This record gives sequence, structure tokens and C-alpha cells, in this order.
Amino acid sequence: MALVDDPNDIDSILLATNTDRNATIATVTNNADTIFKWDYEKGARPRLNKLYEKAKGAMWDGEKDLDWSIDVDLEEMADHLKVVGEIQNKPLHDLSLEPGSPLANWGEAEWNTLAQESLVWQMSQFLHGEQGALVATAKIVETVPWIDAKYYAATQVMDEARHVEVFAKYLDTKLGDHYPINPHLQHLLDDVIEDTRWDMTYLGMQIMIEGLALAAFGFLHQMTEEPLLKKLLRYVMSDEARHVAFGVLSLQEVYQDMTQAEIRERQEFAFEAALRMRDRFLRQEVWHKMGIDDPRPLMSAMLNGPPETKEFQRLLFSKIVPNCRKLGLIDAGDAWLRTKFEEIGVIEFEHLESTDDEFGEFALA
Ligand SMILES: [Fe+2]
Ligand SMILES: [Fe+2]
Repeated sequence: MALVDDPNDIDSILLATNTDRNATIATVTNNADTIFKWDYEKGARPRLNKLYEKAKGAMWDGEKDLDWSIDVDLEEMADHLKVVGEIQNKPLHDLSLEPGSPLANWGEAEWNTLAQESLVWQMSQFLHGEQGALVATAKIVETVPWIDAKYYAATQVMDEARHVEVFAKYLDTKLGDHYPINPHLQHLLDDVIEDTRWDMTYLGMQIMIEGLALAAFGFLHQMTEEPLLKKLLRYVMSDEARHVAFGVLSLQEVYQDMTQAEIRERQEFAFEAALRMRDRFLRQEVWHKMGIDDPRPLMSAMLNGPPETKEFQRLLFSKIVPNCRKLGLIDAGDAWLRTKFEEIGVIEFEHLESTDDEFGEFALA
């Protein structure tokens, strides 16, 4: 992963595209060593062992526990969520007032379509991210050198399979459409899988991607009134909080013994991942689907909009930043990551509760 020169350069953001939007398979090389562990002493890491014991008893079943007979009205759902979207989309509404802009002729129908497409797009990225987690945690089972972590990661593989299953079913049977994976999310997943260092899988997946997912699921869970999605998200969140805690507990131990140079590599990896996730939210595929050939003015407006319109984007960091602080990543060395989090306006979350302390609050009753 190489640091980009100008993270706000729209042309380089758009260079990442899906070359084959109808592809049903993608391959990436896992360069990390697979490790067998012949010392089976269970509980050598008591907090990981506790998570494992909890996970075994916490497995819900999407087929039995969710009511799939509920009818879902995408139009109504999107219409309800539009209230939130309107704040987020303010820079786009402003742009639509400019004569000659790509949105100049937009009326209510187009804004409604945008709300629906954005929801389907968002749910699709959740689905693809879940598959990323499924594959990444299978990688952790293979590469982590601790038996308690292999046990726990194996439960997470099963959790992620159930998550993929319910999101796929929701998109297929309730929304009736889906988007291919966003190229920025794909790049991030590729980085996580390709890396030779086993701990980077945790940082990219458990801390960054799942930290963001936990915040995004929480937000949508709070906002939506659609009962099936609300319950589905609640169930998924109860697992995700444990997954993020698994990352924090594991990396705390690993980072203790690292050199300054090694920690700096982790800081850079975390920030690159943050940028990829931000770029994903510029929704470039939605603009293409809406028939906009050149989405650059829209993406630029979204990136450079006033702070109040970026509230949603900022909130997505509400789990990542305190967890990075707990890991010591923010202030290590010359506090490089603090400067970067300041630049993207998310440092204020650093003193929120970290997920290893709060995950119990997400448990199902
Ligand atoms: Fe998941
Ligand atoms: Fe997860």
C-alpha cells in the first residue's frame, strides 16, 4: 500500500474502477505463512478465551430468528431515510442550483431515485464487506500463532457466513437488486488479504473495516423504521462488537513488542484504509447508474462541502478512532496518525469508549 500524494485528487480517486462489473469471481494471493500450533493450552490468553466462550453461545440463525415474511417497500424506506440524506446531500443540492451542472435539471423524481439507489448501493457494500470479513477471518485462523485466537477467529468465520447470508437474502428477496463491489473497498480487501504480516489482517479488518461497519450499522439501525432490517442489523451488530473487541485485544499485545518503524507502518496502513473507506462513500457507481458521465463535480462537492454536511462521514470514525487510541497508534512516534486524523476532522472521537470495553452493551438480551 503506497501513500497517495494528494488524497483529495478526484482524478486519482476515479482511477480505481471495476473493470468487469459482471464478474462473479475475483482472485487475490494471500502472501502470509500458515501456522500450525502444537501447544494447545486453552485460556493462555484469558480475554480471548472469554470472547470465544461467549461467541459459541451467541449464534443466532437468520432463517429462524428473522421474520422474512415482512414486506419491504424500498420507496417508503428510502423516503424516510431521505431526511438524513438531505443534510449529507446538501452540497449536491447546492450544485443542482448551478446552471450547467450535471444536476441542473434534477427534479423530485431524480432525488427519490438517488435515495433508493444509495440505499441499495449501501446495503450491497455491506454485503461485500461481510464476504471480505469471512475471507479475512479464515486467513486469521491460518496465520495467527496463538491457539486462543485460532479458536475465536473460527467462530468469527461462522458469524461472517451468517452475515453474508442475511444481507444477500435481504438484497435478493426484499430490494431485488444489488451493486458490484466498490473498487475502493475491493482494494482495501485486497490489501488485507495480500499482506505477509498476520497482524495487518486484524488492523485492516477488525479495527478499520469492522469498526466502520459497527458505526454504520448502528446509524442505519437507529434511522430505519423497516422492522426486518432493524432486527437484522441489531443481530449483526451484536457479533460485530465482539469482532472489533477481538482486534483490539489481540493487537494490544502484538504492538507492545514492536519497534517504532514497525508501528509507523501500522499507522500508515490505518490511515490508507481510512482514506479508501472515505472514497468509497463518494458512491461513484451510483452516479454512473444515474446517467452522469462525469461525476467529478459531484464528488468534489461532497469532499469539499461544509463540515455540517460531513457529519455522517465523520460519525463512521466514532469506533475506529478510540480503538486506534487504545492500541497506542494515535500518539506513537511523532504522533503521525493524530495529525492525519486531525486533517480529516475525526480526532475528537478519541476519548469515546473503546470497543473492547463496551462490546457487552451490544449483546442480545
Ligand atoms: Fe460481519
Ligand atoms: Fe464482523
